[in-house]
Parts: sequence; structure tokens; C-alpha cells
Amino acid sequence: MFSHYGFLRLFFYILLLVFCLNTGAETQPSAKKTVMQWMMQEIVPQSTLLWGADNPESDEEWSQLLSAAEKIIRAAKAMQKNALSDQGTDWSKQSDWQTYNSEMKAAADHAKEAILEKNLDKLFKAGDDLYPPCEGCHLQFNPAVSEDS
Ligand code: HEC
Repeated sequence: MFSHYGFLRLFFYILLLVFCLNTGAETQPSAKKTVMQWMMQEIVPQSTLLWGADNPESDEEWSQLLSAAEKIIRAAKAMQKNALSDQGTDWSKQSDWQTYNSEMKAAADHAKEAILEKNLDKLFKAGDDLYPPCEGCHLQFNPAVSEDS
């Protein structure tokens, strides 16, 4: 016997399946950002925030800095596993990539420590250490930048 509800239920399962397939397809590309996306969406704005730290006084300013350091750490962790160029090359397979990327992460780790201790001198020092890996990595992996300089 084919009841009315049997059809409804089948229809519901199909909807559910289509929904799952769709969201699966949507989450995949955003789960793997390209290096350019990491740079523009996270590294650039968050490092600008850290370098701009002047004399943070309120808890809100400190927590903004904390979040900036944490976002750089998260980006570095992601680019340790996947560092995709727009052409699909995965730079993370190269040992020099790993070196620059982990120097950036170490500087962000120190910045995070400094922020938790509210130690401004330590934060400035971490900020100084954050710059060389940017430059070193670009010279080697971002020809567009090294041609300019
Ligand atoms: C481990 C390597 C690496 C580190 C560390 C790194 N970058 Fe990058 N960055 C790249 C690569 C590679 C590109 C170019 C990506 C592409 O062309 O697909 C790039 C691109 C950029 C761009 C865009 C430049 C353009 O060509 O338009 C900016 C801005 C940038 N990075 C800023 C930074 C800053 C600031 C830091 C340090 C806080 C940093 N990057 C650290 C590898 C790195």
C-alpha cells in the first residue's frame, strides 16, 4: 500500500539529500583558502593592527590585539598544511616555506604572550620579529613583490 505519507517522506529525504550535497559543495572551497586570501583577509589586516599598537589602555583594545595575534597564528597553522597559489601549486611542500611560515607563527605566539601579560615592550619586540618572515617569504615565493623591490 502506497500511503500519502510515504510520498511526503520520500520527498523530504530527497530535499534533505539535496541540501546536504549543496552545503558540502559550499563549505569545501572556503575551508581551503589560497595564500592570497589568507594574506588579504587575515595576515594584512591583523598584522597592521599589531604593528599599530600604540599604548593600549582599555581591556577592549587588549582583546582586539589578542584576537589579531590569534588570527595570525591560525592562518600560519593553516598555511603549514596547505599553501595554495592561484594556479594550485601547494607551497607548503617546500622546506623554505615551512621556515618562513613558522617564523611568522613564532612571532605571533610571542605577541600573544606579551598581550596576555600586557607587556608593551615585549609586544614591540614581537612586532619587530614579525616583519622579516614577511619579507623573506615574499622575496622567494611572491615574484610580483620581489620584482618591485
Ligand atoms: C610563508 C610565506 C609568507 C609569509 C610569512 C608572508 N607572506 Fe605575504 N604573501 C606570500 C605569497 C606567496 C604571496 C603571493 C600569493 C600569490 O601570488 O598567490 C603573498 C602576498 C602578500 C600580499 C599581496 C601582495 C601582492 O602581490 O599583491 C601582501 C600585502 C602580503 N603578502 C603581506 C604579508 C605580510 C604583512 C606578512 C607578514 C606579517 C606576510 N605577507 C607574510 C607569502 C608569505
